[in-house]
Amino acid sequence: MTTTRSFPTGFVWGAATAAYQIEGAANEDGRGESVWDRFCATPGKVRNGDSGAVACDFYHRYPEDIALMQELGLDAFRFSIAWPRILPEGRGRVNAAGLDFYDRLVDALLASGITPFPTLFHWDTPQALEDEGGWTSRATAEAFVEYADAVAGRLGDRIARWTTHNEPWVVAWIGHARGEHAPGRTSEADAIAAGHHLLLSHGWAVEALRRAAPDAEVGIVLNLEHVDPASETPADLDAARQMDVMANRWFLDPLFRGEYPADLLERYAPPVRDGDLEAISTPIDFLGVNNYFRFVVRASSNGDGPYIVNDPDRQRTDMGWEVYPEGLFQLLTRVSRDYAPPAIYVTENGAAFGDIRSHDGGVHDLERTAYIESHVDAVRRAAAAGAPMKGYFVWSFLDNFEWSLGYAKRFGIVYVDYPTQERVPKDSFFRYRELIENSRPAPVASRR
Ligand code: FCB
Repeated sequence: MTTTRSFPTGFVWGAATAAYQIEGAANEDGRGESVWDRFCATPGKVRNGDSGAVACDFYHRYPEDIALMQELGLDAFRFSIAWPRILPEGRGRVNAAGLDFYDRLVDALLASGITPFPTLFHWDTPQALEDEGGWTSRATAEAFVEYADAVAGRLGDRIARWTTHNEPWVVAWIGHARGEHAPGRTSEADAIAAGHHLLLSHGWAVEALRRAAPDAEVGIVLNLEHVDPASETPADLDAARQMDVMANRWFLDPLFRGEYPADLLERYAPPVRDGDLEAISTPIDFLGVNNYFRFVVRASSNGDGPYIVNDPDRQRTDMGWEVYPEGLFQLLTRVSRDYAPPAIYVTENGAAFGDIRSHDGGVHDLERTAYIESHVDAVRRAAAAGAPMKGYFVWSFLDNFEWSLGYAKRFGIVYVDYPTQERVPKDSFFRYRELIENSRPAPVASRR
C-alpha cells in the first residue's frame, strides 16, 4: 500500500469549496445580489437554468458538514466569504448578519480542530459594483479594500491564513473576454483591465489584512497549468511560450517580479498607474496553486495563436480534462524555481466524474480515487525535489454548483443527493482519509 509518510512535517491536508457553489440561502439575512445571481437568472447562460440559490444548503447544514470533515481527518477547510453578504451594495453599509454567519462557521471549525482557510473573493462580485463597471473599473479595487477591512475586523483574531483572490485569470478571461462566466462580457480589453484591477486589489488587500492581523499569513490563489509543446519545432516551442504567457505569466510576473511580461505588453495595455506594480508585488507569505490539467499546444498555420492539441486518447475527466499528474509535478517545480514563493499550497485539485449511487448505497468512484492518489503523489515528489510544499486541498469536499455547467458535474469526495440534501461519502473520501492518516507521524512505540 502507498504510504504518504514522506510528506514535510506540518503538511496541511484540506478540502476546498466556494461560497456561491455550496451555501445557498441566497436571499437570507440581508445578502445582496451578486453577478452570479444575475448571470444564472439570464436565460441560456447556465446549463439547465441551474443556480446557486439552494446549492448544498451549507448555510444551514454546516454543523453536519463539519462533523464529516472531522470524520475525514481534515486539518483545514478552504471556503470563501460572500462579499454580497457582508456589503450588500458592494461598499458602504456593512451587513452584520452576514459577518455573523462566518463568525459562527469559523468558531465551529476551530472547535472541531479544523483550521479555517478563507478566501475573500471567489467570484461573487456584488451586482451593484458590476453596474458601475465592475472589475473593469478601478473603483471596484477600492471597494474591495473596504470589504477586506470589514471581514478582517471581525475574523482577524481567529484566522491564521488569508487568501485574497481565487483564480483572477478565470474571472478576467472567462468572465470578461469569453463571456462564459459572470458577468458575461466579451471584450479582451475588459479582461485585461479586470485582471489589472484584481491584481491591484490583491496588493491593497494584503496591506489591509496585515494591518488588521499582523501575525496572519496572506496569499493569493492562481490557476496555473503546465504547458508542453506538441513537438520540438521552433514554431511549436513558440506556441508553448505564448500559451504560458497568457495562462501563467500574466499573473505570476506582476505578483513576483513587479512587471507584466514584455510579450503580453506587445498585445495588450493594462491600465497601470504609478505605484500599482509595487502594490501588486507586495511580498506574500504563500502562493496557492489550483491545477486540474496541462496544455499540449501546437502552432497554428495561419498565425492566430496556439492550438490546444492534447491527445484525445488519454484518460479524461467528465470535464474533458486530460488526466496527467506529471503536469502537476512539472508545474510546482517550475513555479518554485522561477518565482521562489516562500510557501506553496495546492489549494485545488480534483476531478469530475459521472458518479452514481450503487445498489449498496455507496458511490464507488474508482477514477477519482486514482486521480487523487496520483496527484497527491506528484505533490510529494515536488516537495522531495525542493518545492516548498505546505499543503494539499482536494476540490471539492461536496458535489456542488459548477458555475455555467450547473449541477451536471460532480467534483465532491462527498456525494450530494440534491433533492434530499443527503450527504454520502464516496470511496474517494475513505481513500483520502487513509492517505491523510498514513501521512501522520507513526506512534512513538512503532518507530524503529
Ligand atoms: C476552479 C474553481 C472552482 C471549481 C473548479 C472545478 O476553476 O476555482 O470553483 O469550479 O475549478
